[in-house]
Amino acid sequence: MNIIGLDALIFGVDDIQACSDCLRDYGLTPVEVDAQGGRFEALDGTSIIIRPADDAHLPPSIGPAPSLRETVYGVASAADLDAIAQELGRDREVSSDANGVLHSVDDMGFAIAFQVTVRRPFSASADLTNAPGSEPQRPLNQLGISLDMPAVPRTLSHVVYFVPDAAKAEAFYAERLGFKTTDRFTGVGPFMRPTGSDDHHCLFMIQTPPHMKGCEHFTFHMGSGTEVLLAGRRFEQNGWTSFWGPGRHLFGSNWFWYFNSPLGCHIEYDADMDKHDDAWAARQAPMSADNSQLFLFTARDKWAPSGPPPKQG
Ligand SMILES: [Fe+2]
Repeated sequence: MNIIGLDALIFGVDDIQACSDCLRDYGLTPVEVDAQGGRFEALDGTSIIIRPADDAHLPPSIGPAPSLRETVYGVASAADLDAIAQELGRDREVSSDANGVLHSVDDMGFAIAFQVTVRRPFSASADLTNAPGSEPQRPLNQLGISLDMPAVPRTLSHVVYFVPDAAKAEAFYAERLGFKTTDRFTGVGPFMRPTGSDDHHCLFMIQTPPHMKGCEHFTFHMGSGTEVLLAGRRFEQNGWTSFWGPGRHLFGSNWFWYFNSPLGCHIEYDADMDKHDDAWAARQAPMSADNSQLFLFTARDKWAPSGPPPKQG
């Protein structure tokens, strides 16, 4: 059951134009997008898909629109789809659509789907660092940054669910789909990765009161912390408002910057996440400000030291 990670997240929304503007400004590439929504792709083909909330082809909603309607995982081969269909088919409905995509639900009622992954190879440059005490990574005369340097989402990283029973949800993903728990916030929920991915997590779940279900946020991997800061800065300049960040998480070590969005959840940039294998022993810590981030900053407008710094709120 070689699940590689997230291929797509499908949202039912009430304002196609606002969501299209948001996802385009975020840096995703619109593909086959019209008044009925469409797909917004990262460099590797993973995507966010938006449709009108009343689209009859979408799985049932688990909350008021706009909301996450389906989480699509990519798998390595058709044999993996067969294994998943056999496993989930033991106690729930599993259907296969005309494109060979499997559709089912998890134990919390979230619609989940599985397909042979759309992820395609791509190459994009790394953020090379010159650190005293280590070999320089950038050759002489190679510049580190430029005003117009690209900072675009590379691959769909993770999704975060609000779930009414985090223990039951964790058991489903571990026992039925083979996910591994990498770390856990005590009494809150687990960070999990599927066996086909070494990323710290592609799924994090947060315990909520009964009847509160939904998506807290999703994020794509950027190339570096610099790219998180640059893309977030550009996103802000397009009028989108910061929710949390920029900063760097402790569990996963990933840089983060969260924004408000019209998709019914927050939308994050992340970069430089830890990678793990089965030798990793999951940590556990209470949820707190210190355990949620190593540091946290607030962005300010650019200025130059030719006068006093501008007053900002
Ligand atoms: Fe996140």
